[in-house]
Amino acid sequence: MYPPPTTSATLHESLFNAAIIAVLILDEPADAAPLAHALLSGGISCVELTLRTPAAMDCLRSIRSLVPEMLVGAGTVLSPAQVREVKEAGAAFGVSPGINPPVVAEAQRIGLPFAPGIYTPTDIELAVEQGCRLMKFFPCETGGGLPYLRNIATPFTHLGIRFIPLGGITPENAETFLRDPLVHAIGGSWLAPRELIQRKDWRAITALAKEASALVERVRGGGR
Ligand code: 3PG
Repeated sequence: MYPPPTTSATLHESLFNAAIIAVLILDEPADAAPLAHALLSGGISCVELTLRTPAAMDCLRSIRSLVPEMLVGAGTVLSPAQVREVKEAGAAFGVSPGINPPVVAEAQRIGLPFAPGIYTPTDIELAVEQGCRLMKFFPCETGGGLPYLRNIATPFTHLGIRFIPLGGITPENAETFLRDPLVHAIGGSWLAPRELIQRKDWRAITALAKEASALVERVRGGGR
């Protein structure tokens, strides 16, 4: 995420404290608030709402207005116009799968904290050059996983960069990722599976969220 507009230190801290970001792909605006409540009831307080469906922007607005306790970022932000749109809809931060300099520059211009996706040292250099210090490491598991991240991050760690691994995180590997010192937070769609959303099985989602927040407590409990 690029440096400090005034709120960014707080956001950085909020993301660290949240530790797990639920990635949401939503088809129905009416599902947005109940889903956010279900996650919050299980102790998950941060979501990345992906701009992958026609309903996404309405879902973002709905969570912002009906579930204000939820920290909501926008994901799959692929254009400068989307940066402006999600900022206006109240997103607290933006995330993209890769790094697109005009997108990062627009986020910087309008004051939307932004974590671009990186997968190579070249991506990291580009992100650092644009002032980013928090980056999405994507896809974190289908590629080289943590050993690969440690390897590519080594030349840059003196700059204080931190990562949010996404893409392949499961309840089985989440703890290993979360324990790594390079990792600021992790995220994934396992907390809000599409079939549970379609069935409006909010209890099952709360149960998944509880398992995930127990993990956060175990790993970061004392330090949060
Ligand atoms: C995504 O952008 O889809 C996220 O990185 C989530 O990936 P996942 O579905 O593997 O958790």
